[in-house]
Amino acid sequence: MTSRLEARALSLAYQGRTIVQELSLAIPDGQVTAIIGPNACGKSTLLRALARILKPAGGAVLLDGRAIAEQPTRSVARSLGLLPQTPLAPEGIAVADLVARGRAPHQGMLRQWSRADEAAVSEALEATGAAPLAGKRIEELSGGQRQRVWIAMALAQETDLLLLDEPTTYLDLRHQIEVLALIRRLNREKGRTIVMVLHDIGLAGRYADHLVAMAEGRVLAEGPPEAVVTPEILRRAFGLEARVIPDPETGTPLVVPRATP
Ligand SMILES: Nc1ncnc2c1ncn2[C@@H]1O[C@H](COP(=O)(O)OP(=O)(O)OP(=O)(O)O)[C@@H](O)[C@H]1O
Ligand SMILES: [Mg+2]
Repeated sequence: MTSRLEARALSLAYQGRTIVQELSLAIPDGQVTAIIGPNACGKSTLLRALARILKPAGGAVLLDGRAIAEQPTRSVARSLGLLPQTPLAPEGIAVADLVARGRAPHQGMLRQWSRADEAAVSEALEATGAAPLAGKRIEELSGGQRQRVWIAMALAQETDLLLLDEPTTYLDLRHQIEVLALIRRLNREKGRTIVMVLHDIGLAGRYADHLVAMAEGRVLAEGPPEAVVTPEILRRAFGLEARVIPDPETGTPLVVPRATP
């Protein structure tokens, strides 16, 4: 297995409060990785560090074998895109303009808006079903419509590595499936490496090749979905009593929580 993106003994903290301690993780190239774990265990914090937005308190994130902190923002942004859990849009911005911002890393002082930029933006809008929203302002959209526009922006960046923090929040079940299928298509057809945080463990098992279970800032288990989604690991990660059965559609693990009185 090769890995362009790696965390080595990574420690992360906010104002001196440690959230992640000496975490090591190699993101498998060309695969879809899903990170699961309870609220506040450090998933978003880890993703921010992997995307160079949060500076490590210890250890390092390596992109292509070199510390990401020492690489220029623009060159990192050409290799790696991040969709944050709660992205902020400039007030009054139109959907098409927001998605076009995904192209910023490809622009330079001398580099004008090109056909390739135009194509990337319209392709991303089409793929996410956001094309009919292109002329609207972000404020006019529903939560799910907004989420699809953010995904379009991340896609328009056309990076080999794509980090998505809960890409399916706000989406109805059909749109969740559509977005996850799209993400996997990008992986299978274009060879993109995906890392996504998901709370739906069944969907994570269906759409990811590699699962990482986190708890309290550490990696509790990683591997193929069947190896990670077990009653024992669910108990240790989430404090949840559950059965794990094969998904009748796909055979991947499906979590059935114990009924509580
Ligand atoms: N900007 C910040 N400043 C200070 N503390 C933060 C900040 N962001 C997150 N934290 C704290 O770090 C811990 C981990 O937060 P993080 O957002 O990484 O969790 P998460 O696993 O993504 O949770 P969720 O599933 O709820 O999104 C939490 O205790 C949180 O309160
Ligand atoms: Mg989070």
